[in-house]
Amino acid sequence: MPQFARRILCIGAGHVGGPTMSVIAARCPQYEVTVVDVNPERVRAWQSDDLPIYEPGLLEVVREARGRNLFFGTDVAAAIDRADVIFVSVNTPTKTFGEGAGKAPDLQYWEKTARTIVDASRANKIVVEKSTLPVRTAHAMERILNSNRKGIHFEVLSNPEFLAEGTAVRDLEAPDRVLVGSHETPEGAAARDVVVEIYANWVPRDRIITSNVWSAELSKLAANAFLAQRISSINSISALCEKTTADVAEVSRAIGMDERIGPRFLHSSVGFGGSCFKKDILNLVYICENYGLEEVARYWESVIRINEYQKRRFVQTMTHAMFDTVADKRIALFGFAFKKDTADTRESPAIAVARKLIEERAVVVVTDPKALANARADLADVPADRIVFEEDPYVAARGAHAIAILTEWDAYRTLDYRAIFDSMERPTFVFDGRNLLDAKALHAIGFNVFPIGKAALKHF
Ligand SMILES: NC(=O)c1ccc[n+]([C@@H]2O[C@H](COP(=O)([O-])OP(=O)(O)OC[C@H]3O[C@@H](n4cnc5c(N)ncnc54)[C@H](O)[C@@H]3O)[C@@H](O)[C@H]2O)c1
Repeated sequence: MPQFARRILCIGAGHVGGPTMSVIAARCPQYEVTVVDVNPERVRAWQSDDLPIYEPGLLEVVREARGRNLFFGTDVAAAIDRADVIFVSVNTPTKTFGEGAGKAPDLQYWEKTARTIVDASRANKIVVEKSTLPVRTAHAMERILNSNRKGIHFEVLSNPEFLAEGTAVRDLEAPDRVLVGSHETPEGAAARDVVVEIYANWVPRDRIITSNVWSAELSKLAANAFLAQRISSINSISALCEKTTADVAEVSRAIGMDERIGPRFLHSSVGFGGSCFKKDILNLVYICENYGLEEVARYWESVIRINEYQKRRFVQTMTHAMFDTVADKRIALFGFAFKKDTADTRESPAIAVARKLIEERAVVVVTDPKALANARADLADVPADRIVFEEDPYVAARGAHAIAILTEWDAYRTLDYRAIFDSMERPTFVFDGRNLLDAKALHAIGFNVFPIGKAALKHF
């Protein structure tokens, strides 16, 4: 058994815990890195080459370290006892019951983890919040951890994760910054140095920033709120562009070249999705309300409202364009993941679009290169005669009245749209919810094309 310089544990082998720990293990062979989860199926998948999540480049990283210094398991208590540093990366979904339902985070997994750590520990530990948590959660965690009667000290740090799904490996290998929040006490500073030292194995020192614990927690919520706000801002402008002769892509290019604004996250679409943006903004809103900051709460809530509006508007445009009825029309949804290069469909706008079309009695055909299994689960309650799942986009479009592009998969750019057009019903529609395709070229083939935030190109 090799001697490792440090024993690192991560509780929660999900979209964050799995990739983060795999990159740490690959970059730091001197550490033993263990990832545990209560879900045995997930753990088995991490132990195989059929990983439980899809991320470009992840399998290579896992293969490099797995069995050498990267281990996946289900024995949470034994792993806690062995570890010096414990990252906690369990899910923190929005509460669906009781006080704060629909807004506050559900911290039951978080608290259970804290109690498991107390029960299983026999020595001092550093506990690092990796999950995104409401401000001052570390305080609650410390109270539970340090109420133990064993005389063990737990130092709690906040190290929020800024990776984006679809680019997780790249984001982890070359992060814009790593943030470590700690208490301003000698114990806090010592624990902070341990975590900084882990990242310093491959991240330049000037990109590793430190702060107090509360700033670190709030920075993660604020970062997601600002990113989502940019999408809602440009989406609000897209609605105005459609009413005028402005083109949202031209507007976005013009404003993005202003260095103070910058070009990224200014792409108009059917709306943002993913497990984090909505839940984290709701967290922010809930905290603001708790502190009596009503105006601030309403300000951030409007980012979510515009997102809901954008999804609704997209389906209204579809229905209206197709002569105010989609009943019994076959509509092919190209893409179901909330963005390209992931199989994740949590909060994907495709879910809302599919459901609204089905309410309008359309027959929806879902195709996606990676996310069909998740799509099936998301729409499990839909009557079988209203929904079809199809891997091949050509087959999905066959006999359809319309295609809606809902995920910006690169593969959809290069399909043979003439062949697709020939196999579809007339008149034939494309609703491009990602402004992915060349609208003029599709129009020349014969499609009626409805991009976001631009004039429609019609044949009638
Ligand atoms: N997904 C992202 O892009 C992203 C990015 C940054 C931060 N985050 C945050 O990271 C956290 C985790 O997100 P995720 O997307 O990885 O979630 P996830 O649902 O993919 O993974 C969470 C894992 O934790 C496990 N788990 C739950 N309770 C447990 C317990 N008591 N013991 C052991 N395992 C337990 C679950 O089985 C699951 O596998 C969230 O707070 C999220 O907001 C997510």
